[in-house]
Amino acid sequence: MPVGVLCAVQGAAEAALVQAVEGDGRLAVTRRCADVVELLAAAEAGLGRLALVSAELDGLDRDAVAALHHAGLRVVCVADQDRPWLTDRLAACGADLVVPPPGDPGAARDVVGRAGALLDAPDRVPDRVTGPVAPARRGRLVAVWGPTGAPGRTTLAVNLAAEIAALGRSSLLVDADTYGGAVAQVIGLLDEAPGIAAAARAAAAGTLDVAALARLAPVASQGLRVLTGIARADRWPELPATALDALWAVARSLVDLTVVDTGFGLERDEVLSYDTRAPQRNAATLSALAAADVVVAVGAGDPVGVARLVRGLADLADLGLEGARLVVVNRLRAAATGPDPHRAVADALARYAGIGEVLVVPDDRAACDAALLAGRTLRECAPGGPARKAIAALAARLATLVPAR
Ligand SMILES: Nc1ncnc2c1ncn2[C@@H]1O[C@H](COP(=O)(O)OP(=O)(O)O)[C@@H](O)[C@H]1O
Ligand SMILES: [Mg+2]
Repeated sequence: MPVGVLCAVQGAAEAALVQAVEGDGRLAVTRRCADVVELLAAAEAGLGRLALVSAELDGLDRDAVAALHHAGLRVVCVADQDRPWLTDRLAACGADLVVPPPGDPGAARDVVGRAGALLDAPDRVPDRVTGPVAPARRGRLVAVWGPTGAPGRTTLAVNLAAEIAALGRSSLLVDADTYGGAVAQVIGLLDEAPGIAAAARAAAAGTLDVAALARLAPVASQGLRVLTGIARADRWPELPATALDALWAVARSLVDLTVVDTGFGLERDEVLSYDTRAPQRNAATLSALAAADVVVAVGAGDPVGVARLVRGLADLADLGLEGARLVVVNRLRAAATGPDPHRAVADALARYAGIGEVLVVPDDRAACDAALLAGRTLRECAPGGPARKAIAALAARLATLVPAR
């Protein structure tokens, strides 16, 4: 039985390509699609294994290419001679092959032959981490995650990124919390538009490169760039996983260390999972965790916080996200955990979560409040305070991931 080809090519090339497919004994056109919506519907219905698409097709972005791949198709993109930049864009979006528009039947046969050859190639590796640009240097990525209950993800992410910059590693702080990003406010940035939404849009369109990301992530202080988040929680659909996967790859080229402040939720929207294109609220968090070289898992230093952390660590493991991980208990205080708080939380996490090493950040209300009030970091506001000292020590550990310049 011939292999099905979905054809969503516009203009004169369409007829030539359809004819060439029909002339190829192995292939047959199973659907001629007018737009991306029809193409994706046919792909998800299992009607083909090869998609021939025009570069200028509306809505053909990284997410659409990923959905085609997910449905088991190879994607061959026919470039537009008048708009050569579309070629780079489509390659960046993950197309398997970008070909020039065929000018005559011979060229059309040639295109179809090359497209057909893709089917013989070994299965493609899912493109979770391939970015639009080959990273010139491979910076590292740290995701700061913690369960619900405000354990101090943002405080940790902001101050870790600032400390790492102070240690001479360039850092990028990304607010990827889809439940109420607060990074801009915490570090006193005037946030006119969420940088991460703009970066995700560019990544989806295949136009996010190092220069574009640098423009969207202003320098907050020496060595520290910030990509602000979505403060309005209803904007979460603007952060799809496919776009963020690409963002992390570009971030690695821009800076030595990217620190991502994530949301707390880890569950997938199972109800919607039949629809691979449906946005997922926790996609940003899951994408950051999957990409991270190290996950900093932070819990609050009280009995409820520690219990939530134990469950959260199990959830991370269930998702296969238990790679390199540092467990931090924040706001640790004797009043909530007993006379030897470090020992108490270390024992509980060893017993219930099998954690060998627990790092702690003491409760330091005065310093954290002063920092919040001033919109500054702890190292600026309370450099000698206990919270700052503990976070600086953690940053020094993370900085060993990347060599000093
Ligand atoms: N070590 C600490 N000592 C005292 N207060 C802290 C500490 N860490 C965080 N906080 C405070 O706890 C609150 C929640 O912290 P935040 O970082 O916003 O949590 P999350 O991002 O997890 O929701 C903030 O008011 C913050 O200043
Ligand atoms: Mg937060």
